[in-house]
Amino acid sequence: MATADSQTLILALTGASGIALGRMALQYLAADARVGHIYLVISDHGRRVMWEELGERPASGQSLPDFLLCGGIGREKIECLDPRDIGAAIASGSVAHQGMLILPCSMGTLAAISHGLSDNLIERAADVCLKERRRLVLAIRETPFNLIHLRNMLAVTEAGATVFPIMPAFYDRAVTPEDGMRQFVARVLAHFQLDPAGMFRWPGGEAK
Ligand SMILES: Cc1cc2nc3c(=O)[nH]c(=O)nc-3n(C[C@H](O)[C@H](O)[C@H](O)COP(=O)(O)O)c2cc1C
Repeated sequence: MATADSQTLILALTGASGIALGRMALQYLAADARVGHIYLVISDHGRRVMWEELGERPASGQSLPDFLLCGGIGREKIECLDPRDIGAAIASGSVAHQGMLILPCSMGTLAAISHGLSDNLIERAADVCLKERRRLVLAIRETPFNLIHLRNMLAVTEAGATVFPIMPAFYDRAVTPEDGMRQFVARVLAHFQLDPAGMFRWPGGEAK
């Protein structure tokens, strides 16, 4: 339950590669005592990519949040919203929250946000973040980028969003792909002052 000093955040998953990172972010946020409420929105194409990349679907009768949490704690904090419901709470700037993370963010959703389309709940909630000057982090994924992608990244950055490409770091010497994914998600969550325990921080010092 949200309290006066806990954060309320929006987490959106769209149809770019990297759904496992969005699932990991949801698991971290749900388990974090500093987070009181999570609005979760998954685009239609996000669901399609989810089935591809996770290689499984919810069991009969299992909700999407339960499926994504994999038995993790904090289910009661998650409110799953229909991406087509343009009348949901987060479509309005009057609803208080501390920001929105789109992980992964497709080039299609990036384009829609950069042009202010607001044609579904994810695009509208992002548009609201920009107009209300709230934190908006777009964890985009595509490679290579074309000129349209780059122009759209510039436009959303000028409008106040943070473009946070899904790119691995190597200086933390992650041993497994999962370690690298955890470090990436931790770095994203640090933008909401929600750094998970154990996040690698560069210690500085002489080159080895
Ligand atoms: C398996 C799969 C992987 C995809 N990966 C990406 C990707 O990494 N980046 C991207 O911009 N689009 C990717 N797409 C295409 C998007 O899903 C597509 O452009 C879609 O319209 C995005 O819609 P959305 O932003 O509403 O979720 C992928 C599609 C599939 C089926």
